[in-house]
Amino acid sequence: MLFELWKHPRPAAPVFRSGGQVVVASHRLAREVLADRARFSAANALDAAVPIPAGPLRELARHRFRLPATLANNDTATHEHIRSRFAEVFAPQNVEALRPWLTGLARRTAAGVAWRLRQGEAVDLDAAVSSEIPLAALARLLGLDVSATAEVKRFSRAALELFWGDPSPRRQRELAEVVGPFHALLRGWTGESSGATRELLEAHGEDAATAALFFLLVAGQETTSQFLTLLLHRLVEEPSLLDHAPVAVVEEGLRLLPPITSWQRVALHDTELDGFAVRAGESVLVWLAAAGTDEGVAACPAAMVPGQRGSRRHLAFGAGAHRCLGSQLSRLEAEVVIAELAPLLPRCEVVTAPVSDPNLSFRMPSPLVVRLSDAGAGGRGARIGRI
Ligand code: HEM
Repeated sequence: MLFELWKHPRPAAPVFRSGGQVVVASHRLAREVLADRARFSAANALDAAVPIPAGPLRELARHRFRLPATLANNDTATHEHIRSRFAEVFAPQNVEALRPWLTGLARRTAAGVAWRLRQGEAVDLDAAVSSEIPLAALARLLGLDVSATAEVKRFSRAALELFWGDPSPRRQRELAEVVGPFHALLRGWTGESSGATRELLEAHGEDAATAALFFLLVAGQETTSQFLTLLLHRLVEEPSLLDHAPVAVVEEGLRLLPPITSWQRVALHDTELDGFAVRAGESVLVWLAAAGTDEGVAACPAAMVPGQRGSRRHLAFGAGAHRCLGSQLSRLEAEVVIAELAPLLPRCEVVTAPVSDPNLSFRMPSPLVVRLSDAGAGGRGARIGRI
């Protein structure tokens, strides 16, 4: 399997076979696969990239871990109803209403980082900024009391590695020992929930409601955290990008640095993509990152030019019936964070650049350690003092 797509150059072929999968790289075909439910199902969205052996499976089962078809992996008739309940929660007006609170949180976070930098500390922006804010925003929207932030992060990263990473059997066991108990905890939360999760519990049962919460707690914050780290890294390296409006920077970031580099579908029957034969049951890996840099998508597809024509034509959030429900939330979070950190970033330099472990879909970049550069600590340091 192509576990580190971000290390691969754009392929010449729009569709090809690799690692036992059909890989789709062109923007047009990627959209076709994502949007055509009659030919390509999302049922395999949460299938483990490396099959989980009996031991770790038993560990998961001990905690009644189940992932029935609910959101991303649901191609049954219940999808529309389940999706509509959460679509209300993440509706644009609810997301926009978070802006003042989010701005305050990002401003306090930026001030804390600035203070530490002024003390001469090297600061990990992945831990201090990217990890905290998306989880706090998600909890606020869903009405969850997520006081155990570190625990949620530990669990969600373990889940991303267990299902999309390339772990050894021993590591799978360790990961199952984190994911299983947390899933059991979520089952408890589901029972006490209100709003959309409670409605789901009543209409579709405990397994479906718990699975939805599981997916949202992972997808609804880890993705944005990873995106923030990728984007902040790029902005420290290339501060002139901050001359553009944050909203435009975020959109180009999504096109060029998507935190989810690929997403899977499965062919429902024998079919073809521009003459390339795909067999029924084959897994199709949609290379979202390659689709965003395809010829003709943007005026300068390989360059980061905020505001350029075609900047929004990326597929970072997927397409069709399963298109991401949190796109507006993640855009707002990134826009606000970039705006609040903008005075600080040009005065920083990278001490440790983020690295990504092998993963089929998620970048999971960490850490991003920065310090004040000589120029930043000197003449213009006074400005940092006012952040
Ligand atoms: C930069 C951040 C994010 C990225 C890149 C991202 C990307 C994606 C992608 C690629 C999909 C699959 C789409 C498809 O199958 O066509 C997806 C689905 C989904 N995302 Fe996101 N996502 C992000 C943030 C969020 C957030 C913040 C939330 C929740 C608050 C969220 C909730 C969901 C849900 C519920 C689905 C499944 C929708 C369905 O199956 O109907 N995502 N996302």
